[in-house]
Amino acid sequence: MNKRVLIFGSGLLGKAFARYLPENFERHILTHSECDIMNMEKVRKAVSDFRPDILVNTAALSDVDYCESHSQEAFIVNAGGAGYLASAARDTGIRIVHISTDYVFDGRKDTPYSEDEEANPVSVYARSKYEGEQLVKFSGAEYLILRVQWLFGEFRETFIDKSVRRLMNGVAVDAVSDQFGSPTYVKYVVYAAARLLGKDCRGVFHIASEGVCSRYEQMIFICSLLGLDKNLVMSKKWAEFQNVAKRPNRVELSKDKLLNATGFAMPHWKEETEEYIRYKYGSEK
Ligand SMILES: NC(=O)c1ccc[n+]([C@@H]2O[C@H](COP(=O)([O-])OP(=O)(O)OC[C@H]3O[C@@H](n4cnc5c(N)ncnc54)[C@H](OP(=O)(O)O)[C@@H]3O)[C@@H](O)[C@H]2O)c1
Repeated sequence: MNKRVLIFGSGLLGKAFARYLPENFERHILTHSECDIMNMEKVRKAVSDFRPDILVNTAALSDVDYCESHSQEAFIVNAGGAGYLASAARDTGIRIVHISTDYVFDGRKDTPYSEDEEANPVSVYARSKYEGEQLVKFSGAEYLILRVQWLFGEFRETFIDKSVRRLMNGVAVDAVSDQFGSPTYVKYVVYAAARLLGKDCRGVFHIASEGVCSRYEQMIFICSLLGLDKNLVMSKKWAEFQNVAKRPNRVELSKDKLLNATGFAMPHWKEETEEYIRYKYGSEK
């Protein structure tokens, strides 16, 4: 049976939901200017106009360094906004899919984090996202909280695209070599989310590619795919960057819960990176 999905936020992941949800999901996406998630009246109107079965909240202040110096705004949108959408979902008896982050963890562990491990956010962004999770959990709505990590994709320029552009013009790029995570193609986040929705799953789930690497390692891999000059990728220690918010040192999310619930295995980061790079830059080689 078809499900109707209303997507809030039209950035990197919101657009990916709109593009990659399977056909049995009828979807409608709302931009920030069409519906501010802080405007409860507009949220309720959007819900009553579209009559969705599911709300997907991808709206957020996602710039970690901006959040560090705009703490109040970060909490209002990332926590308060999530709470508003969850209460709209509860009041109308529909499910909310809320997007969260691996940054709820402090990154001090060198083994994979499972969903029920204790959070310890280390930045304003991370704390605001964690509070958003709590508000969704205790809203009384049926929820699916998806923690995702190091996203890339064709709907917004990320570190990858900015770096490729520079490298193609023969300009050097700095890439951090002592922080580790799993770069994830947004397409696969949506595929995994669709599987979870198809199986009627609820609760918190981790969605990220297999394997971990540093940004430096990923850029070197991209250079080999595109035949770009690896010597232009400068390996940098995180401590060399000034005026940036704290990030976890190494987060590998365990995907066992996703696999056990849906049978869906996320591809390795190299596979996802190669798929994206070939799709986006294939013809420029
Ligand atoms: N990107 C990553 O690497 C990453 C990693 C882990 C978790 N996440 C999480 O994944 C989710 C999606 O991230 P993303 O990368 O897609 O972010 P994004 O590209 O920055 O998109 C966020 C969208 O939210 C919109 N927005 C901001 N405030 C809003 C409001 N008050 N009402 C309605 N819309 C609003 C923004 O619109 P305007 O730009 O017009 O304001 C933007 O379109 C977020 O929850 C983020 O925390 C992202």
